[in-house]
Amino acid sequence: MIHLDPSILAADFANLERDIRCVQEVGVEYIHVDVMDGQFVPNISIGLPVVKSLRKHITGVMDVHLMIEEPERFLEDFKEAGADILTVHLEATHHIHRTIQRIHDLGMKAGISINPGTPVSALEAIINDVDLVLIMSVNPGFGGQKFIPYSLEKLRQVKAMLNKARRDILIQVDGGATLDNVQTLIDAGANLIVAGSSVFEGEKTAANAKAFLELFKG
Ligand code: DX5
Ligand code: ZN
Repeated sequence: MIHLDPSILAADFANLERDIRCVQEVGVEYIHVDVMDGQFVPNISIGLPVVKSLRKHITGVMDVHLMIEEPERFLEDFKEAGADILTVHLEATHHIHRTIQRIHDLGMKAGISINPGTPVSALEAIINDVDLVLIMSVNPGFGGQKFIPYSLEKLRQVKAMLNKARRDILIQVDGGATLDNVQTLIDAGANLIVAGSSVFEGEKTAANAKAFLELFKG
């Protein structure tokens, strides 16, 4: 089963409730929330109070992507803000194993993400402990960037690594996904597709989300 995970980074920040409702009304079950700290990535997005307010309007899974240094400092806070999935970057902490364990102890699903320059092999020691692997297919920090083609090979490698470990978990891809390239992402192994600028597009938002969902039905 393939899921669409619209990234609200591309939504209208003055109308987040409206935009979230719009995609949920056409059947979207996941909402991707990007948190940036201006350190790990060269941009600042939203923080805890906004995430907490969004929770009230998300009927399905709130998937929080932390692009912050030392995410271990804020795990309890994001639990309290209502995150269902909490994804941290391998590059952002010295203690990835402890961080993943703590996310689980707090009762959330734990995801691990790698930047475009980090090899899939770096995931080997943690693959059995996570519920989701996120392959960044752009350099994190901004929406609307171009998909990096080598990400397809990385998706295939993650899929093979998980097959070998007999693990059937979420393989998420984030950055530059469009209606035109999404089938290649699915073919490479992705089953949770983040899409920001190709979903949130004013009047066209509902139709865009619908088109992705139709395509996933086959
Ligand atoms: C980028 C974020 C993404 C971003 C994707 O750093 O993690 O979630 O919103 O945006 P698009 O789909 O426009 O590339
Ligand atoms: Zn993201």
